[in-house]
Amino acid sequence: MSVLYRKYRPQQFGEVIGQNHIKVTLASEVISEAIAHAYLFVGPRGTGKTTLARLFARAINCQNRKKNSAEPCNTCPSCEQIRADRSLDVMEIDAATHTQVDNVRENIISSAHVPPLNQNGYKVFIIDEIHMLSKHAFNALLKTIEEPPIRVVFILATTDIYKVPSTVISRCQRFDFKKIPQTLVIERLKSISAREGVTVPAPVLASVARKSEGCLRDAESLLGQVLSLAEKGSVSQESAELVIPRSNWSEIEQLLGELSQQNVSAALSRLHELADQGADLEILLDDCIEFTRQLLLKKTIGPTFQPNADENAAQAVSRLAEQFSAQELRRLLEIFMLESHRSKVATIPELPLELACIAYCLEQSAPHLRREIPKKTETQVAEPASQPTMSMDMLSQLKIFWPQLLHMLKGHNHSLAVFLKVAHPIQIQNDHLTIGFKYDFHANTVGESKNKRFAEDAFSELLGKRVSIDCIVDPQYTENHKNFAGMNEKEVQDVLSVMGGEVL
Ligand SMILES: Nc1ncnc2c1ncn2[C@@H]1O[C@H](COP(=O)(O)OP(=O)(O)O)[C@@H](O)[C@H]1O
Ligand SMILES: [Mg+2]
Ligand SMILES: [Zn+2]
Repeated sequence: MSVLYRKYRPQQFGEVIGQNHIKVTLASEVISEAIAHAYLFVGPRGTGKTTLARLFARAINCQNRKKNSAEPCNTCPSCEQIRADRSLDVMEIDAATHTQVDNVRENIISSAHVPPLNQNGYKVFIIDEIHMLSKHAFNALLKTIEEPPIRVVFILATTDIYKVPSTVISRCQRFDFKKIPQTLVIERLKSISAREGVTVPAPVLASVARKSEGCLRDAESLLGQVLSLAEKGSVSQESAELVIPRSNWSEIEQLLGELSQQNVSAALSRLHELADQGADLEILLDDCIEFTRQLLLKKTIGPTFQPNADENAAQAVSRLAEQFSAQELRRLLEIFMLESHRSKVATIPELPLELACIAYCLEQSAPHLRREIPKKTETQVAEPASQPTMSMDMLSQLKIFWPQLLHMLKGHNHSLAVFLKVAHPIQIQNDHLTIGFKYDFHANTVGESKNKRFAEDAFSELLGKRVSIDCIVDPQYTENHKNFAGMNEKEVQDVLSVMGGEVL
């Protein structure tokens, strides 16, 4: 099977998915022959930049284009040559492999001064990964863009606009490509599978779309792998899982069941067991989100809702939906999503899911611990009062995870970890975390700028928000540290009550 994303590259503006404002503007420029000298296509990979650049190049060179239509005929000699990459008027250059100024001079500047062979057409330079050019190469190019030879068009494409000099950006007509929405990706995958004559279960198409995060090229490549497993014109869910790994639904059902009972201890044990068995925890978290979403939909829509899942999972959804209120599911989903954001930067893979389980159970059993987003009233703006609930919540999170944090730091900076082991968090206020030490020397060492930054990064990651730290000598060190090491009476009770009475 040929590579799907090449086989199905759109050949007409009408086939391009999404990017509506770009299609419309380019098409109307083609029709009115109001062609700019330079275009800049910016956006994530696999969203249609090269596709539209080539289409545009063909459209403005097509010898048979109908009046009032932007679509290239794709059969005239010009269209054919461009399609076969044999045209002398349309050149595609990968800046990533031609970064140097000499290349730009030889490949682009000198040939830009040779008029197009096709008299009514245009010479088009499509330069991909433009951000890779060297500074000199950019400058050389800039001169040509500023005083372009007639009938020359530059289409520059980049995934990384921040590396493109503003002098270049300001000379171009800029288009920002967006990731392709999931529903459109799914539709596209469905139509490609149909054209390939293979039936693929809807949940598989949905996971392919989810996994490719708005990049249609990735979605189509992954679909190609799935289709290659087809037997007698269809792919089963099980075989698709070879390509798109997903968690075991029954494990997720049990995990969520434990959360519905607020049995944090059982939930954490299950998590650790899964991690020990080598489960991919990022996928697990994604799947928890998907499952909880299905539960929430089931709960809100009722019996008519058909979960987007196989028979077993659908039954699990019906069973579990009974064990939560819609409000609880909404909150759980929110917590999972928050942690999913953090999981991208987490260095302890288990941490996001652990925090999600703990946060949910803590909140459900002690609603006053819930972190409300403070309303911005005038008085609060004027007086940034401490937020005792929030601080308490974060401080207890910190205390629970202190040993794990030290473990994580130990791998990077042993002495920092050792000093923090004999320290304790005192308070968190206005994004300042105060850490108490026994000795000046310890406080100063951890407070040194390099160490401090390191520790701040680790704490920020753990807490999911940027905090700065202050290292002080705690005048009540002995008492506080004793309390901290063993946690104080009330906190032990609070934590134990939601952890099913066991020490972690
Ligand atoms: N907007 C889109 N509409 C239809 N297909 C697309 C779109 N974007 C990407 N594709 C598919 O992905 C492949 C690669 O897209 P391409 O235009 O090369 O992406 P890039 O933005 O990285 O240049 C195309 O051949 C096509 O199959
Ligand atoms: Mg491209
Ligand atoms: Zn043509």
